[in-house]
Amino acid sequence: MGTELNGTRPPLSDVTVCDVYGAGGHAQVVVDVLRARGIRVRRQYNDMPSNQHPASVDVHPGVRLADAGLSAFLDVPVVMAVGRNGERAELVAMMTARYLRAVHPSALIASSARIGEGTVVLHGAIVQPNARIGRHVLVNTAASVDHDCVVGDFAHISPHATLCGHVQVGEGTHVGAGAVAIPKVRIGRWCRVGAGAVVLTDVPDHTTVVGNPARVVPDRTGEPPPDRTADCHRGPARLGAVS
Ligand SMILES: CC(C)(COP(=O)(O)OP(=O)(O)OC[C@H]1O[C@@H](n2cnc3c(N)ncnc32)[C@H](O)[C@@H]1OP(=O)(O)O)[C@@H](O)C(=O)NCCC(=O)NCCS
Repeated sequence: MGTELNGTRPPLSDVTVCDVYGAGGHAQVVVDVLRARGIRVRRQYNDMPSNQHPASVDVHPGVRLADAGLSAFLDVPVVMAVGRNGERAELVAMMTARYLRAVHPSALIASSARIGEGTVVLHGAIVQPNARIGRHVLVNTAASVDHDCVVGDFAHISPHATLCGHVQVGEGTHVGAGAVAIPKVRIGRWCRVGAGAVVLTDVPDHTTVVGNPARVVPDRTGEPPPDRTADCHRGPARLGAVS
């Protein structure tokens, strides 16, 4: 992993220009966050031309494409703006880059909350005291992460989802739009929590739950949930307060 800061580079809090990896709808939202923070987006990268929003600008081929040089990512920080959790994890494992946190000015982040590098917190989201949010997490529009929650790397807390106090969400887990997890429940790694679900009890790893109260349903996609991030987590997670 190439996420260590080089001492000759400015601290990420002073960043005025960055690249965005991704060129779809989610990337558009991330670009809006960066602009709202006064950060200029130099370029966007994309591996799949079919997954490109019409409003994307200056799109360059990503690391999966044969002619993409990794060195392209070394000079300015990057935000990994790819919506699928497993794909985000896979790309981070492939790239050498400095990753920027992108927090919209309308998000409310308690001073004692900690947020990992590359994590994106969108418009109107709330992160309460002592919450710990990992790396490359997506805290989506108006999501609420209450006090003492722990959210693993590459997770996604969807729009208007609510994690009550002391909830744990494992690495790579997707909590669907408007879902609620009551205090102290533990949701495992690479789970899927359906839109509108109400999670009352712990959820094992690699499980899909839906409904109120949340019940387990089989995965009918025929594709196992991604779990390809073993190499992404060498060394301690770097967390930081957000000003
Ligand atoms: C939970 C989810 C991941 C399941 O997707 P899937 O694996 O394709 O599952 P299926 O559509 O085959 O549904 C399986 C069963 O769960 C039910 N189900 C699926 N999603 C549900 C939901 N959100 N609430 C209640 N029931 C749901 C289906 O009706 C089906 O029930 P049945 O077996 O009785 O027919 C998906 O439906 C979902 O809710 N995703 C969240 C999307 C979201 O919030 N995105 C935010 C983007 S910002």
